Amino acid sequence: MTAADLPGVERLVHDNMRPYLADQGLAWDSGQFRRRVAEADNFCLVSPVALVAFLSLLHADDHLHVRELQVSAPFRGRGVGTWLIRHAEALAQEHGRKPLRLNVLKHNPALRLYRRLGFRVTAETRTGLVMEKRLDTPGQPAP
Ligand SMILES: CC(C)(COP(=O)(O)OP(=O)(O)OC[C@H]1O[C@@H](n2cnc3c(N)ncnc32)[C@H](O)[C@@H]1OP(=O)(O)O)[C@@H](O)C(=O)NCCC(=O)NCCS
Repeated sequence: MTAADLPGVERLVHDNMRPYLADQGLAWDSGQFRRRVAEADNFCLVSPVALVAFLSLLHADDHLHVRELQVSAPFRGRGVGTWLIRHAEALAQEHGRKPLRLNVLKHNPALRLYRRLGFRVTAETRTGLVMEKRLDTPGQPAP
């Protein structure tokens, strides 16, 4: 991702998350979003005419945090989200086989995708869930 991608990425995340923010009575905070992007490892998937998806990862000591997984509405349901999580898994493998972790709101349909890909709930807040996926060790499936 380059600096030129940032406005499009912010628009994508803002448009995707607007209903969830509204539900919680939260306003979009552009400064906070840009600070969070600046400290993370970011990937954009682009077609010749549009931004398709955005993945933002934060390297923590004991896990790789999936900060953002955002697919543009016309491109959903075709495996892009799955492919990006697989990409995050490959990076986590390279960084010492760290588990992947993410936060998801309880009523976000993305929960189904994460469960299908092997994420398990490890903690719960009033509105959200923390999910984690431990990576396979050779000959041993993830729990
Ligand atoms: C969640 C998201 C990244 C999935 O991307 P995608 O490219 O559509 O994912 P895939 O095509 O690989 O898989 C589709 C899966 O997403 C899940 N899903 C997510 N949102 C869904 C929706 N609105 N309706 C139905 N299924 C949805 C389903 O589990 C579906 O899998 P299934 O058809 O096997 O049940 C995408 O829907 C998105 O960007 N949503 C808005 C932003 C968001 O909520 N991000 C997650 C924040 S934690």
